[in-house]
Amino acid sequence: MAETNPKAPAAPARVPHQARTAKSKVEVRGVTKLFQRKSDTLEVLRGIDLSVESGEFLCLLGPSGCGKSTLLSIIGGFEQPTSGSVAIDGVEVQRPDPRRIFVFQEYGIFPWASVWDNVGLGLRERPKEEQAHIIRRYVDLVGLTGFEKAYPAEISGGMKQRVALARALAVSPDIIFMDEPLGALDSLTRLQMRGELLRIWQQEQPTILFVTHDVDEALQLGERIVVMSPRPGRIAEIVPVDLDHPRDLGTAAYGRLKNRLYELLGVGHAV
Ligand SMILES: Nc1ncnc2c1ncn2[C@@H]1O[C@H](COP(=O)(O)OP(=O)(O)OP(=O)(O)O)[C@@H](O)[C@H]1O
Ligand SMILES: [Mg+2]
Repeated sequence: MAETNPKAPAAPARVPHQARTAKSKVEVRGVTKLFQRKSDTLEVLRGIDLSVESGEFLCLLGPSGCGKSTLLSIIGGFEQPTSGSVAIDGVEVQRPDPRRIFVFQEYGIFPWASVWDNVGLGLRERPKEEQAHIIRRYVDLVGLTGFEKAYPAEISGGMKQRVALARALAVSPDIIFMDEPLGALDSLTRLQMRGELLRIWQQEQPTILFVTHDVDEALQLGERIVVMSPRPGRIAEIVPVDLDHPRDLGTAAYGRLKNRLYELLGVGHAV
C-alpha cells in the first residue's frame, strides 16, 4: 500500500509535544503492581509516574516481561494497581471505558464478520445511515475500500490490522492503546503500516499509547519514548524525539537517539 492516501485531506499542522500547554490527558501517579502467585509475590511495576498529553503519540519501550502490557491494562482500567492511581481527564480510572480502545498484535477481529461489520462493531447503537457513513470513512482512511465484503480469512495480516485500526478509530476514541500492534506482520508490511499509522494519527489526532520492544519502531513513531527497565518495571528515562516526520534514519541525531535507547536498555551501542 502507498505511504499516503490521495483521497485523504491534508493533515492539519500538529502542535509538537514540547509546545503543547494543554492539561495532561493521562496522569499515572506512583503506580505499583504485585501479582500474587501460589508460593510468592511477583513485583511487576514499581513507582511509575507518567503524564501523557492529549493527542500525543507516546511509545513504551522495554524488554519482554518488564510490565508494558500490565501498565497499559492498568491505564485502560482492565487491571487495578496495587498502589498509586491513574486519572484520565482528571477522573480516576476504575474500569474500562468504551471510548478507550485496545489494538493488539493478534488483531482481535471476528472471523465470521466481514470487514464492513468488523469496522462497525462499536457503532451498533447508532442509526444505520450514520453507521454506514462512519464505516465508509474509516474503511477509506485505512485504505480498505473495495474489501468491505471480504472476510478476515480472505485478507492479509496487514489488512487485518487495518481493520482493527479502523474499528478502533470508528468510535472516536479518546485514547488508543496499541500493544505491539505490528508485531505479527512481516518487516516490509510493518514499515508500510508505520507510515500509515503516522498519517492517520496526524489526521485524526487521537492520543496513542504504543507498546513495542523495537527500538526503530519507537524512534519512527513516538513523540516521546518511555524506556522501561527489566522487572520490576520502572521508568528508566523518558526520551523526547524532536525529529520531524518522516524521520530520516540516516542522520546523526537519529543515531544518537538510537544509541541512547540501546544504552538505557542495557545492550550497548547500535551504531
Ligand atoms: N495476571 C497475571 N498474573 C500473574 N503474573 C502476571 C499476570 N500478568 C502478567 N504477569 C507477569 O507480569 C510480568 C510482566 O508481564 P507483561 O505482560 O506486562 O510484560 P511485557 O513487558 O508486556 O512483556 P512482553 O514484551 O513479553 O509482552 C511477567 O513476568 C508476567 O508473567
Ligand atoms: Mg506485552
